[in-house]
Amino acid sequence: MKPAVLVTKRIYPQAIAYLKEHAEVDYEETDDGMPADELARRIRGKQAVVSQLMDKFPDQVLATLDGIRVIANVAVGYDNIDVPAATRHGILVTHTPDVLTDTTADFAFTLLLAAARRVVEGHHFVHSGQWTKWRVDLLVGQDVHHRTLGIFGMGRIGQAVARRATGFSMRIIYHDIRRAPEAVEKQLGLEFATAEQVLRESDFVSLHVPLTSETRHLIGARELSMMKPTAILVNSSRGPVVDEPALAEALDRRVIAGAGIDVFEHEPQVDPALLKLENAVLAPHIASASVDTRIKMSMMAAENAVAAIEGRRPPNLLNPELWTGAGL
Ligand code: 8YV
Repeated sequence: MKPAVLVTKRIYPQAIAYLKEHAEVDYEETDDGMPADELARRIRGKQAVVSQLMDKFPDQVLATLDGIRVIANVAVGYDNIDVPAATRHGILVTHTPDVLTDTTADFAFTLLLAAARRVVEGHHFVHSGQWTKWRVDLLVGQDVHHRTLGIFGMGRIGQAVARRATGFSMRIIYHDIRRAPEAVEKQLGLEFATAEQVLRESDFVSLHVPLTSETRHLIGARELSMMKPTAILVNSSRGPVVDEPALAEALDRRVIAGAGIDVFEHEPQVDPALLKLENAVLAPHIASASVDTRIKMSMMAAENAVAAIEGRRPPNLLNPELWTGAGL
């Protein structure tokens, strides 16, 4: 009998075709996903779940997943899954690193440039017919080149953002709980700094940390008040890394000049105060959303799931300590 896989939400068809070659597939072919009780019901009897960020797997849910060998998340981030608990319950967890690094870094830089140079305001200005004359200070913004970029989180995506900044002749300072390898610092011209230094000295602060109990509300009212009044905050990591009401207030009161935000505390809801602000460039969690990358992420998750149910080590395993070499 073929193993059975649950796919909780729509993914690219190539990945479904691949899964069907190797397993019976229960496919929730919608963008709605499913409530926790339906998820629990449909997981029963399956060996793998291909999940997305909205699917929550805390300890108490993981404890009920008898027979599940792997949860294959279609994302590099995995804050929706309690990985240590999954390990205790003998469930492999995989994610989709690398394939989205450059795509996500491109978008972080897009947000940075858009907020700095007021692209969205300009777009609305022209479209609404308000452009009637040339003005010396019409929609003047902040220069990006030769300015200081501060990065929180110098992992794969943080480094890819830094690489882009070198092309803009920027000074790059960063903070991370772990210092980047010396070779990386040297190659990208990075300066390691305290969190406070990054906040105080940067013209742009870009967040590339995972969401953990330590990074939740890493940026709140206190941190925003340390930033320059001309500074711009970019968040393409996870919404709860920033205290969203505090950000809205700081933008409204011009404590900082602007923000480029792709992720929110309660997606898909956005703090109504943010929606009113012209100095907030907002996007619906699309930093990794290029056609090629989303296909690769879908395929990678499918391959991780199939490897696990066939007793092979999944390539992108988050809890390798569980791997015995001969399946579970
Ligand atoms: C995805 C992401 O859009 O990979 C991640 O961690 O946040 C994004 O690339 C999202 O996770 C899709 O499920």
